[in-house]
Amino acid sequence: MTRIGMDLNSFILEQERLYPNATGSLSRALVAIESATKVIASHVRMAGLADILGMAGKKNIQGEEVKKLDELSNNLLIQYLSQSGEFFALASEELDEPIFPEEGKDAKYVIAFDPLDGSSNIDVNISIGTIFSIHRRVNSDVSDFLQEGYKQVAAGYVIYGSSTMLVLSTGNGVNGFTLDPAVGMYLLSHPNMKIPEKGKIYSINESNDKKWIDAGLKEYIESLKDEGYTSRYIGSMVADVHRTLIKGGIFAYPADVKNKNGKLRLLYEASPMAFLTVQAGGMATTGKEDILNIKPTDIHQRVPVFLGGKYEMEKLKSMLKNG
Ligand code: AHG
Ligand code: MN
Ligand code: MN
Repeated sequence: MTRIGMDLNSFILEQERLYPNATGSLSRALVAIESATKVIASHVRMAGLADILGMAGKKNIQGEEVKKLDELSNNLLIQYLSQSGEFFALASEELDEPIFPEEGKDAKYVIAFDPLDGSSNIDVNISIGTIFSIHRRVNSDVSDFLQEGYKQVAAGYVIYGSSTMLVLSTGNGVNGFTLDPAVGMYLLSHPNMKIPEKGKIYSINESNDKKWIDAGLKEYIESLKDEGYTSRYIGSMVADVHRTLIKGGIFAYPADVKNKNGKLRLLYEASPMAFLTVQAGGMATTGKEDILNIKPTDIHQRVPVFLGGKYEMEKLKSMLKNG
């Protein structure tokens, strides 16, 4: 039985036992993500300290180090995920082309990730994260990344916030684990997360409203305001989606004249977050189609994103002009 406080490894093993034919491969894959993100979390915590030391006169090597967190996180994930031997291929926001690790020749899965999401927030001590999406290996080439989002075997994110949390779905609901820094373990703190059917918050970069392509969108936001909704926008997708999962409402990064397909990337931002949202009882769309039904054509393609609770999403669909 899952219970509050159980550690992530026990949880993963318990889930594995539900499938008598499981080989343990997915469990080991998840443990590799767990290890890598714990190390990233400790570097994120040090980033602030490094910054302070930098200001105290230790040159600004420290400052550079902070900016390099994107690269560091990317390298750590590549290292841990490759060494696990559980991934046939890795795709990352920070890599032009996927990597096929030597150790993963016989592996069953491919993984796409955003090593550090919200990196513009690092220097100002605001929540950032890591996002990942796992699919089955099918064709043993790059096309394995071009599978629809509904085919994800697992998806999740880690938020490096006031605490570090790992939020995970293997297609059987959504569970959140908080990193206990004293013991270095992720402990189940948010079992069976469900997005409220109706919330009170909209989350969108409203400074772009004159550039939004869909004429119905401004009207929609205005009508949420009329209903008493308030605005929250962090600018780290992980943080904005995390809040949306817990408190409800809507998160959006729509198409605008500058970003014709929106800004967020399908494989390692939109699709895993859509998977979690839907698993938590919410909905996720581009405005025209369900994000999870899109057949990707490119590893780094972008899509407009709208995700949230049932009430906000139904209302959105009825008000968008294009969709
Ligand atoms: P990343 O740091 O991985 O490049 O992602 C940044 C993304 C996402 O986290 C966030 O939702 C969005 O950029 C914010 O964009 P704006 O600054 O245009 O609002
Ligand atoms: Mn990102
Ligand atoms: Mn990123």
